Amino acid sequence: MSDTALSQVDLIREAFHYQSRFEGSTMVFKIDFPVTEDPGFPYLMKDLALLAQTGFKVVIVPGAKEWIDAVLGRQGLASTYAAEGDLPGQTRITTTQAIPFVEMAAFHVATKFMTFLSGSRVDAVIGNFVRARGLGVVNGVDMEHTGTVDKIYTDSISRVLNLGMVPILPCIGWSPSGRPYNVPSDEIALAASAALGAVKFFIVSVHEGLRADVFKVPENIETRADGSLVRLTPQEVESVIAANTLTANIKNRTEHETSFHANLDDTRKQILRELKMALRVCRAGVDRVHIIDGREEGAVLKELFSNLGVGTMIYADEYESIRAFHSRDLPDILRLMEPLMQKGILVRREPEQIQEKRNDYVVFEIDGSIHASGALHDWGEGQGEIAAVATDPLYADLGLGRRIVGYLIERARKSGMSRVFALTTHTQDWFETLGFKEATVESLPGQKRRIYDQNRKSKVFALTLGSRL
Ligand SMILES: CC(C)(COP(=O)(O)OP(=O)(O)OC[C@H]1O[C@@H](n2cnc3c(N)ncnc32)[C@H](O)[C@@H]1OP(=O)(O)O)[C@@H](O)C(=O)NCCC(=O)NCCS
Repeated sequence: MSDTALSQVDLIREAFHYQSRFEGSTMVFKIDFPVTEDPGFPYLMKDLALLAQTGFKVVIVPGAKEWIDAVLGRQGLASTYAAEGDLPGQTRITTTQAIPFVEMAAFHVATKFMTFLSGSRVDAVIGNFVRARGLGVVNGVDMEHTGTVDKIYTDSISRVLNLGMVPILPCIGWSPSGRPYNVPSDEIALAASAALGAVKFFIVSVHEGLRADVFKVPENIETRADGSLVRLTPQEVESVIAANTLTANIKNRTEHETSFHANLDDTRKQILRELKMALRVCRAGVDRVHIIDGREEGAVLKELFSNLGVGTMIYADEYESIRAFHSRDLPDILRLMEPLMQKGILVRREPEQIQEKRNDYVVFEIDGSIHASGALHDWGEGQGEIAAVATDPLYADLGLGRRIVGYLIERARKSGMSRVFALTTHTQDWFETLGFKEATVESLPGQKRRIYDQNRKSKVFALTLGSRL
């Protein structure tokens, strides 16, 4: 089979894997209004329809802010915003005159989603799934018909989902007595994802996302070639927010920093808002939040089925974990290593040899499948060999290899070794970037030195423990 056909087969395999893993799981999509006006919107909706058709429970929460502003503007009812919550000036004061138009605008936007789902023959229900209560008077300002989520009617939503339909939650909720409130769609999406036990939350908007060349981001965070960030832990999100938020009373800020903060444009502010939102969603118990650009064709599918998408994922669980090797992992490890062994990049190991040394091996698991592996062999004399490091080519350059090596170094340290080494024919530069230095065959522990393959002429790269990756 050609390389292309093989990689296509790999992709199909991976897609099936994700499909079976997430089938029946609830995913909430908070989709900003500008996404609906983008030429890519029909494709996004096709993908969401496909998800619903293949057994995912898709919940849509449309944002309608810009459309509501436009509708109110046409009525001569310019929106005013009040400081409420942690984002000053973000909450619309929905007056008694405005609320009928807000309802109309919110349902109009929800209908757009329904229209496209109908086009893909997926049933959708725009419903009164939110019980709301008024915000009341906040800091002396009467918020009138602006409300917050009181309760999500999960039973009704679940019934809709179990029928294979897509519930759409417009930014309106009603009090028990039937009084309508305009509730920010962020709040609805957050409450719905927590109440429904969603496994994933997508923030879909129209910007290129979080990039290391535009934001201050912690070191050691992987970026793609274009500078965009692949994934962050909630702690890393907190540090990004702290480093990029304009705080009036920070002392000793340099001139550059001052202008950096002063120049935070709307997109950056929006991304910071999304990061705050992502944090809240994670804290509400959702394991993974994906921030994606809704204009990018196939962005949702790429994020979902391969994790090689265009967005940034914030993961609250131990999403990517390096763990000990189990016997059941053998076929996966062999799948990773076989092409490398065939090319002579890795020394051939028979399945029995791997089994025999199984306690030395670790694997990097993402969503239940293995994408990298490595081993640490103890050769005595306080020295360990880092060997058989292999990363799935589909997941190359995402830091998996570095983390496997880092993990093995920690393991070596914990077991009292003072030096680790690797024998390599093709990866000397890589080990050098990880801090390893070229060493002599003579420096190897006796047992290893005696079986060193003089014909293979591997180079020895070693790291004295004490330094950290
Ligand atoms: C080497 C290997 C494990 C790296 O895996 P990975 O998960 O892609 O590595 P990371 O994401 O941590 O690092 C990627 C970086 O290393 C660089 N890199 C990858 N292979 C390299 C090599 N052979 N020589 C020099 N640099 C290399 C990449 O260009 C990338 O650079 P960047 O960060 O500047 O973009 C993987 O390419 C592999 O499986 N190689 C074949 C097996 C092998 O040689 N194992 C080591 C001997 S035990």
